[in-house]
Amino acid sequence: MTDLKLSDSQFPDIQGLILNTYKMPLVRHFVLQIINSADAAKDFIGNLVNGNSASSLQITTASSSNIKPDYCLNIGFTYEGLKALKLRDDSLSSFPKEFIQGSAARAEKVGDTGASAPENWKGKLGTPEAHILLTLFAQSSHVLESVTMTLRALFTQQNALTELSHHDGNALPDGRTHFGFKDGFSQPTIEGGPPPDFASPLPPAPAGEFLLGYPSQHPGFTFPIPTPHELGFNGSFVAFRILQQDVDGFEKFLQENASKIGMSVEKLAAKVCGRWRNGVPLVLSPETDEPQIPIAPNQMNNFDYVSSSDDRHNFDDKRGDRCPIGAHIRRTNPRSEKVAGNGGHLHRLVRRGLSYGPPYDPAVPNDDIERGTLGMFICVSLLDQFEFIMTQWVNDGIFTAGLDRTKDPMIGNNTPEESKFVIPTEEGAKTIKGFSQFVTTRGGAYCFLPSITALKYIASLQSVLI
Ligand code: HEM
Repeated sequence: MTDLKLSDSQFPDIQGLILNTYKMPLVRHFVLQIINSADAAKDFIGNLVNGNSASSLQITTASSSNIKPDYCLNIGFTYEGLKALKLRDDSLSSFPKEFIQGSAARAEKVGDTGASAPENWKGKLGTPEAHILLTLFAQSSHVLESVTMTLRALFTQQNALTELSHHDGNALPDGRTHFGFKDGFSQPTIEGGPPPDFASPLPPAPAGEFLLGYPSQHPGFTFPIPTPHELGFNGSFVAFRILQQDVDGFEKFLQENASKIGMSVEKLAAKVCGRWRNGVPLVLSPETDEPQIPIAPNQMNNFDYVSSSDDRHNFDDKRGDRCPIGAHIRRTNPRSEKVAGNGGHLHRLVRRGLSYGPPYDPAVPNDDIERGTLGMFICVSLLDQFEFIMTQWVNDGIFTAGLDRTKDPMIGNNTPEESKFVIPTEEGAKTIKGFSQFVTTRGGAYCFLPSITALKYIASLQSVLI
């Protein structure tokens, strides 16, 4: 146990995407394999952190800058990648089991079966060849392409890296995502981290929920740091996911069921998510997405599901009459609701994501074009955070009363035979059954996000080995 506190003096050592939302419209994720020589790959990594930003591309840190950069660059390694870099055996074995096993071996646990199973994943994701996830965010396609060109030249220098695949994402018009919802309101406020964009009534998350080496969300407990200390400290983990969305299926589900239960399509969409498509939380405005007293933009995350002791909310949505207990955002963050183990706010994720593919056009429903979300779910423990949420809260329904063994209606691995979504209303519960899965996993990678010190350490291992 450590009592270390995060402060901005650590920001230059921490990869930026852990603490900052870059708010850039474009992203390109490169999946890379280390070939031939670990030393050449270490040279590549060393170049990204040598501080010589005038002449080379640099990993973006969490240090704030008054000038918004044109691009941001971050790097993660799978366990196979760390092995290919020839880290010491005692270092390798100090990583957590779920990371060592990797996303393909853990797929069944998180519900990636059938069409979502790793054998159907794209771009060599989930194979032992996928070593590095290099993520480039950019302000414009010009910047994206020019930085890509420089990076590709670096990959091939000294025959260091092979690009197995790349995956492009782009913000959709009006800040919407493919199911039509605005995203990006709820992120954990991290103790000692940058100030949040949106006010929240929840206690700030301890830094050790997202960074290795600080006290975690579990009192008296710090997650073990991979060794040596300079490799593990200030690092984090990310579950990268390519999530294909069946927008046509989702819209048909809404259209077909809304009239059956006497609800508008938009209200049913809100019940599925927990927010209206414009982001207004159901708990704050249960009947309309345009409340008479508009909700200020920075208040869009200022709510809870049970009344708070300081009387901030004069209602109590314990039964889910406003926001169903099974709605996507209520399941993935039950806030102060009573859940098994009393951990409603102990399994949080930092979410970074962008859509991929063109917007859905209802005039061309079956256009055979793949679209979805490139999601990054960042946490200090893939087991206790990402996997916990997927197994206990998304794809199972016994963690709190009123779920009736249902799965997340939006992202759960539902089947028409078993699916069920219960919507409590003042006139009694309305139940929708017989719908299928709307989100299919098309790729995944569990990656370690090392600190800048750790990247330098990895790069310097070369000289140790010579
Ligand atoms: C394509 C798949 C997905 C879609 C379309 C989707 C959509 C959304 C939307 C619209 C929101 C509300 C925006 C906000 O509160 O900021 C949201 C919130 C959230 N989602 Fe998802 N999501 C997807 C996948 C996932 C997955 C796989 C996870 C878990 C591993 C997840 C976890 C969360 C969490 C934790 C929140 C914030 C809840 C809160 O704090 O109130 N989502 N998602």
